[in-house]
Amino acid sequence: MIKTVSTTPYSDQKPGTSGLRKKVPVFQQQNYAENFIQSIFDSLEGFAGQTLVIGGDGRYYNREVIQIAIKMAAANGFGQVLVGRGGILSTPAASNVIRKHKAFGGIILSASHNPGGPTEDFGIKYNIGNGGPAPEKITDAIFARSKAIDSYRIADAADVNLDIEGTQTIEGMTVTVIDPVADYAELMEQLFDFAAIRAMFGGGFRVVFDAMSAVTGPYAKEIIENRLGAPKGSVLNFMPLPDFGGHHPDPNLVHARALYETMMADDAPDFGAASDGDGDRNLIIGRSIFVTPSDSLAMLAANAHLAPGYAKGLSGIARSMPTSGAADRVAEKLGIGMYETPTGWKFFGNLLDADKVTICGEESAGTGSNHVREKDGLWAVLLWLNVLAVRKESVIDIVREHWATYGRNYYSRHDYEEVDSAAANGLMADLRAQLADLPGKSFGGLTVETADDFAYHDPIDKSVSEHQGVRILFAGGSRIVFRLSGTGTSGATLRVYIERYEPDAARHDVETQTALADLIAIADEIAGIKSRTGRDAPSVIT
Ligand code: G1P
Ligand code: ZN
Repeated sequence: MIKTVSTTPYSDQKPGTSGLRKKVPVFQQQNYAENFIQSIFDSLEGFAGQTLVIGGDGRYYNREVIQIAIKMAAANGFGQVLVGRGGILSTPAASNVIRKHKAFGGIILSASHNPGGPTEDFGIKYNIGNGGPAPEKITDAIFARSKAIDSYRIADAADVNLDIEGTQTIEGMTVTVIDPVADYAELMEQLFDFAAIRAMFGGGFRVVFDAMSAVTGPYAKEIIENRLGAPKGSVLNFMPLPDFGGHHPDPNLVHARALYETMMADDAPDFGAASDGDGDRNLIIGRSIFVTPSDSLAMLAANAHLAPGYAKGLSGIARSMPTSGAADRVAEKLGIGMYETPTGWKFFGNLLDADKVTICGEESAGTGSNHVREKDGLWAVLLWLNVLAVRKESVIDIVREHWATYGRNYYSRHDYEEVDSAAANGLMADLRAQLADLPGKSFGGLTVETADDFAYHDPIDKSVSEHQGVRILFAGGSRIVFRLSGTGTSGATLRVYIERYEPDAARHDVETQTALADLIAIADEIAGIKSRTGRDAPSVIT
């Protein structure tokens, strides 16, 4: 039986950088998830009889919302739901399933790298038929609908058994529980030279991958240990846990500290990596060297042709605006297009669909390619491994040679988390008010060349996205960017991105924060970070 249930709107269901993210108790309010899911369906057209993919990162509340979403899909007229066994699908794997099975779209339940648990974060995101996050036109429609919704439709049916692969039926709609790993592992085998990587592992190369008790555990176990033959135990924390073992499943130097220490030790393995809650981020650390995500993007772009899936070269590269300009130098040398987009993977979709770019990346540990329409943590790890297997050099040698060839973009992001929203908005408003006066001003030895509030003109669909971050560009290529996070769930998070370009290889050995010290001071001088936020230091430095 299909029920139509009356409801009243919530006013706070505005999707952010990556879907709707709130604390679990917010999602547990009466009809909260139902309202949002119905608002998604009400914003779409033409899905009757079509396939919807559903999966999540396994965090607390995942299974409950999956049952709701399946029953609502049945009541709204979808023909089929494909759902990962156990309710599990990493974000890139979901993107792949949508594309491979020509689904109409997908619902991904995740709050990415945010902590999980009864009082932590949860999220719902809608992806379109190309496998990528819904563009703003759709997320805006979802938000508008959520403010007016007065009822939702749901099948009055028993819960689906998510733990057994196979097919069940609800109100005439088929629900197929699929192996969450199989399609994804097959895609990785097509892109990368598994034989070469296997041979490298066989020769004693040591790899360690920290799944952070999150969704990539099963994927990494199957691919790195079972298919590529790395010794058992190479994949750490491989059981996805609803609360990620109480940790932040965010692969950065703060939350993946243990891995970092392992990689800096005298007897460190050759290669260390980690991924986040939903499997789309990556952390890359060679023995005694951390590779910044911005550098990793540039280095992967420069070496991608060594992997079979990219042997014919790249059509172009895209990076989010705050990501360092390291990749730009690679694009220039390769003579291919370079695109600068706002923060958030959804802006890469059009460029990938139009084959303007093959590889994309964000400074926030996101790298990916045209193989799916999400960033992909394990993909980045496997591309690195493929490059290492072919070049037969260490990570540190590859990094140093890259810097010597292209110059080094010293880069760091300073996050001030959970600051007062009014203070953060005031800081940004004041920065915007200063923009016209900044060019020509000098701070220490650095002169501002241009300053603006980044606006993106999508070259494919001609849409314009404004207010994407304040950029202050100095003569010589140094840069400070300020923006507020669109994924936080309490207060505001101020992100300050600091970058300096150093062409001289003799000066490539300076500690990053030291190399950026003058710019860090200038950021505070221009924005008044300390006085406005009341913070002496950033909460997280990456
Ligand atoms: C953050 C990152 C951004 C990434 C997003 C989703 O968004 O900065 O690059 O796409 O998470 O993983 P923010 O919180 O800055 O809006
Ligand atoms: Zn993520």
